Order: sequence, then C-alpha cells, then structure tokens
Amino acid sequence: MNVCVVGTGYVGLVTGAVFADLGNTVICVDADKKKIEGLRRGKMPIYEPGLEEMVTRNAAEGRLHFTTDLRGGVKQSKVIFIAVGTPPKDSGETDLSQVRAVAQEIATAIDSYKIVVNKSTVPVGTGDLVRSIIEANRRVNVDFDVVSNPEFLREGSAIADSLQPDRIVIGAPDRTVAMALLELYAPLEVPMLVTDVQSAEMIKYASNAFLATKISFINMVANVCEKAGANIADVAKGMGYDKRIGREFLNAGLGFGGSCFPKDTISLVHVARKFKEDPGLLEAVLEVNADRVPRLLRRIEGAVRPMKGKTIAVLGLAFKPDTDDLRDAKSLEIIRALMAKGAKIRAYDPIAMELCKRILPKVTYCRSAYEATKGADAAVLVTEWREFRQLDLERLGQGMKRPVLIDGRNVYDPKKARDAGFEYLSIGRR
Ligand code: UGA
Repeated sequence: MNVCVVGTGYVGLVTGAVFADLGNTVICVDADKKKIEGLRRGKMPIYEPGLEEMVTRNAAEGRLHFTTDLRGGVKQSKVIFIAVGTPPKDSGETDLSQVRAVAQEIATAIDSYKIVVNKSTVPVGTGDLVRSIIEANRRVNVDFDVVSNPEFLREGSAIADSLQPDRIVIGAPDRTVAMALLELYAPLEVPMLVTDVQSAEMIKYASNAFLATKISFINMVANVCEKAGANIADVAKGMGYDKRIGREFLNAGLGFGGSCFPKDTISLVHVARKFKEDPGLLEAVLEVNADRVPRLLRRIEGAVRPMKGKTIAVLGLAFKPDTDDLRDAKSLEIIRALMAKGAKIRAYDPIAMELCKRILPKVTYCRSAYEATKGADAAVLVTEWREFRQLDLERLGQGMKRPVLIDGRNVYDPKKARDAGFEYLSIGRR
C-alpha cells in the first residue's frame, strides 16, 4: 500500500519506518527542511534503539522516502497519517494548530479518494474537526474519510512496541473504511478493535490518564509507607499479583514526566470541564505528581543542609531510560531548584547530556557516574538507566565528600547501599 506520514517526530518516524518494514511504500513528510535532509543522509533526529538501522535499511531498499513536499506525498498515497505535535497551551487545552494546518494542506492536495488517519494524540472531536477542514477547503470534489488510529508506543521501546503492540485501535466511520487500515496492520497479528472515531480518540486519552493515575496512586501509597515503616516495593508486588491490578506502572518514584502523561492528563481535565463534568480525580493525580520533586528536595535538604555551596551529583537526566528526551524531565526541575538554592551540580547521563548542555549550560557534565560523584556532598539518582544498577557502590561512595545517596527510583537494595557505607534514602522504603 502507498502510505504518507505527515510529521517525523517519535510517532511519525517510527510509524513510517515500521510500515515500510512491513513492505509498504512510505513517504514521510516534514516541514523542517534540515530534519528531512538529515534523514535522507541517515541522521536520526531522535535517539531510539533500533530506529536508525530500520530507517537506513528501508530507505536503501527504496520503500522509505523523506520529503518536505506534503502535496506530492498526499497525491501518491491512498492512506495519509497525520502524526504532528499536539503540545499543550498554557490553559492545558491541546494546541491543535499543527493538525489544523496539515488538514488544510491535505485538503488542497487531494485529487482522488483518500483515507486521512489521525495518529496524533488529540481530544475527542478532532476527527470531526479534520473532516470539516478538509470539506471546506478541498479544491476537487472527491470523497475522503477520516479515521482515528491512536498510537500507544513508548519512547525507548518504540520499535518493539510498534511491532508488537497490545492492541491496534481503529476508529472509522464504517467497516469498509476500517478494512483498509486492518489490512495495513494485518501482518502484525495482534488484537484489533474497530470502533467509531470518538471512542478511539477517548481510548488514547483514557489509557494514558489511567496509567498516570496508577503512578500517582502508588506514589501516594509510598508517602504513607515511608512514614509507617512499610516497604512500597513489596506493597506494589503484593498488589500486582492480583490480575485485576497488574504489576506494571506501579513503580513508585519521582512521578511521571515526558511528553505524554502530563500533557494528556491535563488535556483530559480540560475536555471533562468542556463537557461540564468534574475532573477532580485527574486533578488529584496531577497534584500528587507535582509534589514528587518538592518532596524529594525537602529530603535532600534535610540530609545536606544548608544547600548553599554544596555539590550535588545528579545521576540520569533523560525523563526515563533509553531515550535522550528531556521534555518534562524531573532532572531539570531538580537541578534548577538545587541551583537556585546555591548548590553546584555535577551530572551524568549515558545519552541525554548533549541536549541538556543547551538547556542547563552551568552544570558540570561528567563522563561517568563515578566522575560525577567525585567530591560531591550527595548523589541523587533521577533516571534508572540500566548501567546504574551495576555500579560498584563502595567505589561510588569512596569518591564522595559525604556518602549520601538519594535514590529517586528505588534502584538499590537499602541494606546493600548502607553496607557500602551510604547514608541511603529512597522512595517509600526505610
Ligand atoms: C506513554 C505511554 O506509556 C505510551 O503507551 C503512549 O503511547 C505514550 O505515552 C504517548 O502517549 O505517546 P512514554 O511517555 O514514552 O509512553 O513513557 P512511559 O514508559 O509510559 O513513562 C512515562 C513516565 O511515567 C516516565 O516519566 C516514567 O518514569 C514514569 N513511570 C512509569 C513511573 O514513574 N512509574 C512507573 O511505574 C512507570
């Protein structure tokens, strides 16, 4: 099938690469010339395991193309995916300007029947909006359909998630339209749900908001565990054995960051308000999340007071492991707050340091966790990169001025960390 994907961010680029890998001819479109030129040369705009190999191989085999020419891409394809950014406005409402602009351009380009598929994360009702924009702006009176096909991939495991998703959701106006999409995804052999456009749009928001709720729930329970002397890791394990609850997304820590959970939960609050429904539950989820870093900062201060003039090592900058993404990363919030109190920061991250240098130039960037902790008054583990699990804790502590380790992701065993000589603080555990 000939497919056009508009937008080469996480979702668009991975979707394009995977469809090409399944044997389709894919044209990836982006308005950013530099990005497209880079992709043509095999330079990835993001770090994602396995992506570079998949893109270069499919491009070399002639199935994957990159262009800034949206009209050309639309004309050559039967199915057009919209995968552009939907960032939040200050009010929390989703900014749909990129989706609108793309719909407008698609309208002026269509010259035969097309299926326009919305893959961007959007509030319920956006399918209707896209439909009305195309209807109002098309130059040739040809038929078209608008479908919602939300994406559930995670950064850091985007390729694997796209090849083996738990489900494919297709929101289409009727079964015949859905069939074209079912055909595209058929080689994956995974469960597929066909529904209406509005339900598909709600499935995406509800899924992300539910996972965010799980995280805030376990973090709230961790707060109580910390005071009551219970161990949140065992509590989560004990809860997770219940199949109705499940073990996943019950890791207590610094809360959720990244480009999805914070923005989608706020957006669902906004959608609920728009329909005059009470978003109180989701507001509480956001409140618990917003308190994660201030809570950790109070504990760091308690351990190394006064902060002024102290050196703090920050281990991990990316919002989660296996990505270089710093959007809504807890590290930025923590570093800014510590610096505001007069602390000096030495940081290390396996992948995200180059990007971070541009955002926080005053931080001292180091080549390893051992180098970052050298001479520090405390170390804070912010991102649970795999390599941090293997650290020689004795060596780490010996290089420090004072061996205080604040483990924001419960990576270490408290007894082992203390045996290695650390004053050790973690989340929801003694
Ligand atoms: C999330 C969803 O998991 C994807 O299904 C979805 O497609 C994506 O958003 C999206 O809407 O585009 P992502 O943001 O890449 O994916 O990352 P997650 O692995 O879900 O982690 C999100 C945040 O939750 C991270 O900050 C992570 O540290 C935190 N988290 C996750 C916890 O604090 N505890 C957990 O148990 C799990």
